[in-house]
Amino acid sequence: MSLLHAAEIGKTFGSLRALDDMFIDINAGERVGLIGPNGAGKTTFFNCLLGVLNPDSGVIVFDGKEVNNLPVYKRARLGFGRTFQRIELFSGLTVREHLVVAERSRNGRGSFLRDLIWQGSPSKAELAACDEVVELLGLGDIRHELIDSLSLGKGRLVEIARALMVQPKLLLLDEPSSGLDVKETEAFAEALLRIQKERQFAILLVEHDVDLVSSFTQRAYLMDLGRHITNGATADVMKSEELRRAYLGDGEGVQQ
Ligand SMILES: Nc1ncnc2c1ncn2[C@@H]1O[C@H](COP(=O)(O)OP(=O)(O)O)[C@@H](O)[C@H]1O
Ligand SMILES: [Mg+2]
Repeated sequence: MSLLHAAEIGKTFGSLRALDDMFIDINAGERVGLIGPNGAGKTTFFNCLLGVLNPDSGVIVFDGKEVNNLPVYKRARLGFGRTFQRIELFSGLTVREHLVVAERSRNGRGSFLRDLIWQGSPSKAELAACDEVVELLGLGDIRHELIDSLSLGKGRLVEIARALMVQPKLLLLDEPSSGLDVKETEAFAEALLRIQKERQFAILLVEHDVDLVSSFTQRAYLMDLGRHITNGATADVMKSEELRRAYLGDGEGVQQ
């Protein structure tokens, strides 16, 4: 049985059929890509999986439990991890303080994230849990730096670190390479792969840019115009005629 199973997902915005009969299956520990040209419906699908949007139809099962009607925070408790945009990191807190906040929210201490940091000095156990993730992501040197002072690339890694503090079974990432240059993207992918191999969580990587999906994922789904087009081993999807056709006229083209 797959860790995440979504089938027959539909979503309409006004007169636009943004998703039509979309589906995906992700096994525990697997790295899966979802690709498609701009406007294909990737983010809409991603938000339906997370519970940010309510699909009009379809079923979503996570870890054996139907989650269709669960709000975002309840899905998170079941093991849906997601990154937050940079804007949702707190200025004035250091890298490690962000992780302490996440660790405390996992343990259910306090209701508002901003309160959590003011609950006194972190315990040895809290710091150890944070530092383990910090080290695995290669952020050891900057753990005491303020979030505001970091490059976008390092900020993305802090977003990942924070998501991992809640020990997700599945980490969902929507265009994590956007705004990063080639070197930063490589460093990001390398750090993420290292921690994924160590912790064995599954990843759904949603990307318009096929290069990152190509190097990072084992299987990939291609969607366009709100619909599934093809899926299979990433290497096969990458060289498929369907991919070439979907990206034709997208402006950016596909380099292989
Ligand atoms: N909240 C919304 N209201 C109306 N249309 C939307 C909304 N969100 C997305 N869309 C439309 O749905 C289509 C799919 O968008 P999106 O899921 O963002 O695609 P992708 O992430 O693949 O680029 C686009 O035509 C977009 O304009
Ligand atoms: Mg998108």
